[in-house]
Amino acid sequence: MNSIFSTVGVCGTGAMGQGIAQMAAQAGSQVLLFDASALRAVQAQQAIGQQWQKMHDKGRITASQWENYQARLHTCESLKDLAPCQLVIEAIVENAQVKQALFAQLSEVISGEAILASNTSSLSITALAAGLPRPEQFAGLHFFNPVPLMKVVEVVPGLATAPAVCDKLKAYVLTMCHQAVLAQDTPGFIVNHAGRGYGTEALRIVGEGVADFATIDRILRDQVGFKLGPFELMDLTALDVSHPVMESIYHQYFEEPRYRPSVITAQRLAGGWLGRKSGQGFYTYTDGKAQTPAEATAPTHTNLPPVWVSARAARRAELLQLLKNLGASIETGAAPSNQALCWVAPLGFDVTTCAIVERLDPARTLGIDMLMPDEATQRRVLATNPATRSDMRDAAHALMASDGKAVSVIQDSGGFVTQRVVAHIVNIASDMCQQGICSPADLDTAVTLGLGYPLGPLALGDRLGADNLLEVLFNLQTVYGDPRYRPSPWLRRRGALGLSLRHLSI
Ligand code: NAI
Repeated sequence: MNSIFSTVGVCGTGAMGQGIAQMAAQAGSQVLLFDASALRAVQAQQAIGQQWQKMHDKGRITASQWENYQARLHTCESLKDLAPCQLVIEAIVENAQVKQALFAQLSEVISGEAILASNTSSLSITALAAGLPRPEQFAGLHFFNPVPLMKVVEVVPGLATAPAVCDKLKAYVLTMCHQAVLAQDTPGFIVNHAGRGYGTEALRIVGEGVADFATIDRILRDQVGFKLGPFELMDLTALDVSHPVMESIYHQYFEEPRYRPSVITAQRLAGGWLGRKSGQGFYTYTDGKAQTPAEATAPTHTNLPPVWVSARAARRAELLQLLKNLGASIETGAAPSNQALCWVAPLGFDVTTCAIVERLDPARTLGIDMLMPDEATQRRVLATNPATRSDMRDAAHALMASDGKAVSVIQDSGGFVTQRVVAHIVNIASDMCQQGICSPADLDTAVTLGLGYPLGPLALGDRLGADNLLEVLFNLQTVYGDPRYRPSPWLRRRGALGLSLRHLSI
């Protein structure tokens, strides 16, 4: 028997209710399933039973565990049957009025000590609790889909929620073998808020013609280690889900520029190009498999020019060593010769500006992204400027690909793909810490488990250096004049002091 909640009600037995009920029964609670459609509750009971059968067949649970779990699962025909529950988790349709009406009815049925929780992903917990007789006994309990595999749950107190309610819910989530994170009642809570940086900045880069979506996906997978590029992810989630979330968070934060959605997804959604499920998204799907455009092969170049590296290049010593390892003839003068291929490695600035400011010949100047150490990435990213000569571009590409490493050549913009996207993700995460939406530790836990990022945003920021990311953001702001890139004060302080982003004391 579960020691925290021996009897739990689940209202709404669709995709989420089923997963929640399964984990609650596995945690030792008696589970009462209620749905507006009695048939759906019965179907849910059967579907959960099939999940346990599969787990048993794969040897993950014993026959007696299966039997015990099954014996804990009951369907109810009337809301009144939920009277013995110490906790009722609501997972019905995402509509505030319908949810509030259900909670009002439930408050009449359950005991004064029982807790009501909503699995809402986008509605305010405080607003849902308003008007209830016991708002202190009400909280958000936000699971992710599919519940058994997504091991994180956001526990969300409303303004009136008693702290002891959250403590109990957190302890219960642990018994479900999930991690609980505490999120303040703010739009998107933690995961859907922190996730705004990835897709929106990638969409801006595509919109500016800097690189196509397949190139951006390759860069972010190979340079940072994301399992899916942003466009692969949007195709998987489907634009009828992800575009409305982008719009909703943007408007709920009263048009905060950091969350600005894109006309690209609005248009694709209107056209029905939803992603994998409609067979056509950013990629075309044949038999459920994405058709990925082939990557251009690196040019061969035998007559490589000498190379010269700007004194201002990021990781200059590492870049010089890389060029040496690749067999380039390196010029060491203060200025390049008339033949040299000139390398700049800006953080946040564009290659064109670097060439002009440093009085380099733009026709022979290329940029390379050195935000990450070369050995830490599976891909090098180069940028031309509008005046770069094609022979210089091909020589640069051939040289950088000569040891077999993948290379992408993109158009000039402020920052490179990884710099822009990672700085944006870290900046949004920093601002969430500034607002006290969650602790830095919970933020990283929620994002790694809820979004599958290789590292939490703050750990990623630590790896790349808060000072470097701050420089990227300051320079992006100069290049674009867009408040979207203004650094969060939380990031500014840490970047200026050289502190870890997970440092808790200030
Ligand atoms: P669903 O459409 O699969 O299931 C909803 C169920 O609620 C249906 O069986 C329906 O018959 C029942 N229902 C509707 N009104 C009811 C009422 N007044 N009383 C009792 N039952 C009622 O929906 P899904 O996807 O399971 O979502 C449920 C909730 O979980 C929503 O609030 C949604 O925003 C949230 N959520 C959904 C996620 C997802 O990926 N699907 C992820 C996280 C949260």
